[in-house]
Amino acid sequence: MGDFDWEARSRALENGTGPQGFVLVWHREGMEGTVARLETAARSEPARLELLEWGLRLSRAAGASAAQAWLPADYDAAALAPLGLSPVRPFWRMDRADLEGVPAAPLAAGYRLAVPAQPGVAAQTFNQAFADHWRFSPVTADQVRSYGQPADLCLIAMTEDDTPAAIVWSALEEHDADTRAQPVGLVNVVGTVPGHRRQGLGLALTAEALRRLDRHSARSASLYVDAMNPTRAYELYRRLGFEVAYQYQVFEARW
Ligand SMILES: CC(C)(COP(=O)(O)OP(=O)(O)OC[C@H]1O[C@@H](n2cnc3c(N)ncnc32)[C@H](O)[C@@H]1OP(=O)(O)O)[C@@H](O)C(=O)NCCC(=O)NCCS
Repeated sequence: MGDFDWEARSRALENGTGPQGFVLVWHREGMEGTVARLETAARSEPARLELLEWGLRLSRAAGASAAQAWLPADYDAAALAPLGLSPVRPFWRMDRADLEGVPAAPLAAGYRLAVPAQPGVAAQTFNQAFADHWRFSPVTADQVRSYGQPADLCLIAMTEDDTPAAIVWSALEEHDADTRAQPVGLVNVVGTVPGHRRQGLGLALTAEALRRLDRHSARSASLYVDAMNPTRAYELYRRLGFEVAYQYQVFEARW
């Protein structure tokens, strides 16, 4: 959060009894322009709607082509419609209760495990693997450089002629007031470059990431997945013992 522009991009809502909620407005560049993401925490739904409205106005004035709010899957869509927000995509958080018994999943012949020598290699592999993903937003080498996680948690599968074929990135997180065993190992990115898919690379790298998170003292694991993912990534995660723990609905306004 170090470079987040709090003054311009966040607001708290207060009344005589204290804070009622706050909103943060993130943004990233996608193939269809800037996509904003509104994160709210609120003591009541009227407060949340007021904060969302502020975030939507800011996003639109700042030139975003769309703004998203990730809310519980059963959130009342009729309450959001007047703001121009409509449901567009279910997303899941999938959890693994612990890091015991991760199945052995060796890399297919012709591939070797590596930690990317340069951030540019990781960025390029991510961009190739995710180019067709819903709301794809390319990453830069600088973003990879500032990731701030142990280097051995960014894994790449390389071919014999040193072409990157798949990437898995993970991270250690601590959450207050959370039912998961802490710290949580977050599997942030799982991507295989088209042409190298369906050979077990995604499974092998994710299994290896879980083993490494275990060595870094993670006590549970989580990831987020598009429930309409056309490459059915959730099946791969189920095979590794992940189960749906929380269902989101992504609501979007478009301009
Ligand atoms: C999802 C993704 C990471 C899977 O990567 P992958 O390397 O193809 O994964 P795997 O090979 O381990 O498993 C994928 C499928 O290949 C099958 N498979 C594995 N080895 C195989 C082999 N030797 N021959 C044929 N099929 C095989 C698996 O059974 C699995 O099948 P399923 O989809 O029917 O369940 C990849 O499709 C991708 O990068 N998608 C775009 C980015 C994305 O959506 N990432 C997930 C974000 S949450």
